[in-house]
Amino acid sequence: MTYVITLANLKGGAGKTTTAVNLAAGLARQRLRTLLVDADPQANATLHLSINPDEIECSLSTVLQRDARMDAAVCSLHDNLDVLPASIDLDPLEYRLVTDPAAALLFQRQLRDTPHDVVVIDTRPSIGFLTSSALLAADLVLIPLPPEYFAANSFLRTIDRLTEMADAAGRAPTTRVVFTMLDRRGRFHAKTQRELQPVVDARGSPLDLRAFATVIRTNTDLKRAAAFGVDIFRFAPNSRGAADYGELTHELTETAGF
Ligand SMILES: Nc1ncnc2c1ncn2[C@@H]1O[C@H](COP(=O)(O)OP(=O)(O)OP(=O)(O)O)[C@@H](O)[C@H]1O
Ligand SMILES: [Mg+2]
Repeated sequence: MTYVITLANLKGGAGKTTTAVNLAAGLARQRLRTLLVDADPQANATLHLSINPDEIECSLSTVLQRDARMDAAVCSLHDNLDVLPASIDLDPLEYRLVTDPAAALLFQRQLRDTPHDVVVIDTRPSIGFLTSSALLAADLVLIPLPPEYFAANSFLRTIDRLTEMADAAGRAPTTRVVFTMLDRRGRFHAKTQRELQPVVDARGSPLDLRAFATVIRTNTDLKRAAAFGVDIFRFAPNSRGAADYGELTHELTETAGF
């Protein structure tokens, strides 16, 4: 059974793509067959792994247009890691698909019916056809949360949208926060961690929201790995970024029971 993890936060620049790419790479290193799906027309995850969105023939768009099956559209990257890239036509395509409920259901089914052990989906910082399909397919919604004032507002909007979707679907996915871009362990995330569930409860949400114990510290190697087009384990295996994403992968596999 494929386990689907969707990265989500309506705040831009929260660490969704960085977490999607490095978590997918970490899971693949643990010998889990992993598929990274780039469901963001910005194509950042695609570029992060050195795939040129202007040149690819197969992509998420071809799958959504029913021109290719999911397994025919993926790029094999390394042992155990496949990528379903985003191409430049994904943005206009998303607008066309908004009015196509059959396409949404098909996409959700395809995300769950791949031969992979885990699917990790990177999303854009807004909720349209792509993000809502990815959220509805998710076993785990992972919300990266940086220690910024404006992040709290977007976080609450994200929780409200997730709550609406869970109420409509009659099913609440496991929802976890991962604190990102922390300069110092302890202060921000310990306080926020205590405040999370009461905030969700006060909104009458069915979400079971907790935070991962692992936090991701600020590490410029993570930025540089993206610029070099590789994951952090390949770029700087001894960096803080590799240590933190390695620990996150470990905590995830332990708690999800892979
Ligand atoms: N832990 C970190 N330390 C240092 N830089 C980081 C870290 N995590 C992410 N970054 C950098 O912060 C920027 C934003 O991160 P990222 O692209 O992952 O966010 P995002 O949520 O995917 O953004 P968007 O909503 O635009 O898709 C990037 O330049 C990335 O390299
Ligand atoms: Mg992104």
